[in-house]
Amino acid sequence: MNTTEELTEVVLPGKVEPEDLQVRHGAVPTPGPGQVVVRMEATGVSFAEQQMRRGRYYDQPPFPFVPGYDLVGTVQAAGEGVGTDLVGTRVAALTKTGGWASHVVVDAADTVPVPEGVGAAEAEAMVVNGATAWQMLHRKARVRAGQTVLVLGANGGVGSVLVELARVAGVKVIGTASVRHHDALRERGVTPVDYRAGDVAAQVRALAPGGVDAVFDHVGGRGVVDSWRLLAPGGTLVSYGTASTLNDEGSKQWPVLKIIARVWVWNTLPNGRRAYFYNLWAGKALAKDRFRARLRADLTEVFAALQRGDVTARVAAQLPLARVAEAVRLAESGTVAGKVVLTA
Ligand SMILES: NC(=O)c1ccc[n+]([C@@H]2O[C@H](COP(=O)([O-])OP(=O)(O)OC[C@H]3O[C@@H](n4cnc5c(N)ncnc54)[C@H](OP(=O)(O)O)[C@@H]3O)[C@@H](O)[C@H]2O)c1
Repeated sequence: MNTTEELTEVVLPGKVEPEDLQVRHGAVPTPGPGQVVVRMEATGVSFAEQQMRRGRYYDQPPFPFVPGYDLVGTVQAAGEGVGTDLVGTRVAALTKTGGWASHVVVDAADTVPVPEGVGAAEAEAMVVNGATAWQMLHRKARVRAGQTVLVLGANGGVGSVLVELARVAGVKVIGTASVRHHDALRERGVTPVDYRAGDVAAQVRALAPGGVDAVFDHVGGRGVVDSWRLLAPGGTLVSYGTASTLNDEGSKQWPVLKIIARVWVWNTLPNGRRAYFYNLWAGKALAKDRFRARLRADLTEVFAALQRGDVTARVAAQLPLARVAEAVRLAESGTVAGKVVLTA
């Protein structure tokens, strides 16, 4: 390892404005047994960090901490018990926190190879968004060709990948988005619905009178009841976020617990429909090996889809860690389409 290198990392000290994020420097970490040090090339600004800086992410660590949900980089050093063949390879990793740093220690078993020819920023745009979209579509809703699904926030980070994966699977997509995104959605074969124009459920029913086969809902709140009611017999609701409660006060867990309770009740009803509250991290604590194998398999599928051109990596901007405030402001502005990526 080059000993003249230093670590650069971004610290979230508390509930602060983006300008109060702190950039600090230190020694490059060394990997422990089973770990590697990844020299970060690209790390993303995710919706989770919008929640974390407001203290609204349901299981965020206590302040201060280094945010950063995912990253792509090159393995720089391997700890005891890790084959040296990993060193020098480009990998992706989901971290939940800790990714906004020039060097990140991760368990070697949590790394997923990035195929040759896929750039760091492009791969980064697919890690949390791609894995989430793939798992909800193929592991939860288990969509089939000819079905019709409703994707809320169809032009967002997760939504846009979900839409492309669904279209490749031969699925018709109705997608909610602000009007400024409608032309882009139509180009991707999506029937757009303006969620700001009032009764979304009525707009969707007009398009799919018999209901839809799946709804992907990151908005949460009361609207999740409409999402459930829009399902056709045999349909699946995949709720996976509570974006509508971003600026609420009070318990950060309550909005999620309310959905989980609703899901539980709905699944006890003899109505032939299923509901899930999807969580990308589900099972990690209890069945780590299974979790890792699934994530590796699914991200590998997503990267292959990216190589084939089935999905598009949308990178809105690339900014160095030192300009993190600007990056966060940009990601939160609602004016860009695609991932805001931080670089080392
Ligand atoms: N459960 C999990 O494991 C998991 C994993 C990853 C992400 N997530 C969740 O997924 C959500 C989306 O993340 P992201 O990174 O894709 O965010 P994003 O890029 O900011 O996209 C969110 C989109 O939601 C749209 N939107 C906002 N309010 C809406 C509403 N009331 N109805 C319909 N659409 C609305 C916006 O659309 P317009 O721009 O068109 O206005 C925006 O494009 C977040 O809530 C995040 O927490 C959950």
